[in-house]
Amino acid sequence: MTGETAHGLRGDYSRMRPDYTVEQDWAAYPPEAHALWRRLYERQASLVPRYACEEFIRSVAAMDLSDAIPRFDAVNPRLAKATGWEIVAVPGLLPDLAFFEHLAHRRFPVTVWLREPEEFDYIVEPDIFHDFFGHVPLLFDPVFADYLQAYGRGGVKAHALGAIEMLARLYWYTVEFGLIETPSGVRAYGAGILSSGGEISYSVESPDPNRIGFDLLRIMRTRYKIDTYQETYFVVRDFRQLFEATAPDFTPYYEQLAGRETHAPSAVLAADRVLHRGLAPVRAA
Ligand code: PHE
Ligand code: CO
Repeated sequence: MTGETAHGLRGDYSRMRPDYTVEQDWAAYPPEAHALWRRLYERQASLVPRYACEEFIRSVAAMDLSDAIPRFDAVNPRLAKATGWEIVAVPGLLPDLAFFEHLAHRRFPVTVWLREPEEFDYIVEPDIFHDFFGHVPLLFDPVFADYLQAYGRGGVKAHALGAIEMLARLYWYTVEFGLIETPSGVRAYGAGILSSGGEISYSVESPDPNRIGFDLLRIMRTRYKIDTYQETYFVVRDFRQLFEATAPDFTPYYEQLAGRETHAPSAVLAADRVLHRGLAPVRAA
C-alpha cells in the first residue's frame, strides 16, 4: 500500500537508511510474535485453497510459511531466481515516491513489525503479515511481477504529473483488492483480500458487493473505502490483461480524467461489464 506520509505511523523510523530500508533483525522477534504469526498463517492457509487464484496457492505452498515469521534473507535468493524481485525491510508505510522507486527497481518493501493479538481480525496499517503473506507470493509470478514494476515506474511519472490519486486507485483495485476469473470461478489475487480472514470469502462469494470487469479508466475514477470491506471489486481475465491494459503512456489519460467527476465506491455504470450486481450496502469490517 502507498501512504501519503510517514508521519504518525507506528513503525520505528529512527534507524532507517535514506531509502527507508532497515534491517529485519529476525532474532529480535519474541516467541509470542512467532506464535501469533502461526495462528494468522493457519487461518489464512485454510481459506486460500477455496478463494485464492492458482498462482497464489502454488506459491504459498512452495514457501512453507507455517512455522515462524519468515526471514527475508531466506526468501530472497529464491525470489531473485524466479523473477529478479527482492524483498526489502521497512519500518512501515513509505512516502509515495520512495515506495514507487523501490517497485520500479523490483524491490518490494515489507514492514518488519507484526500486529498485536487484539488486531487478529483487523488492522489499519499494513504489518508483516499483510505485506509478506498477501504480497510476496505473487512476486513469483512473472507477469504479475512485471506489472508491479511497471506500476512503480508509472508511479514515479505520476508523481511528477500530480496524478498520484488516480494511480493509487489502480493499485487499490488491483494489487490490493483485485479479483481474477479462473476455470473454478472468480478468485482473489489482491493482497488486502488474501491477508484478511473475513474479506477473502466476502469478496469471492458474498452476494453483497459488485463484481465488475476490469476497466482501467473507470477504475482510475473510482473512489474507495479504507475502513470497510469493498463495495465493488474489479475482475481481470488474467494478469496478461492487467499488464497490457496498463502498458500505454498514461499521460493523456491523466489529462482526460483531470477535473472530471469521480464515481462512488458503490456505483454501477451503464458501460460496466457486470459479473455480479451487489445486493446490499457494505457491512462494517
Ligand atoms: N503505462 C503507465 C504510464 O505510462 C505506467 C503504468 C504501468 C502504470 C502499469 C500502472 C501500471 O504511466
Ligand atoms: Co498491501
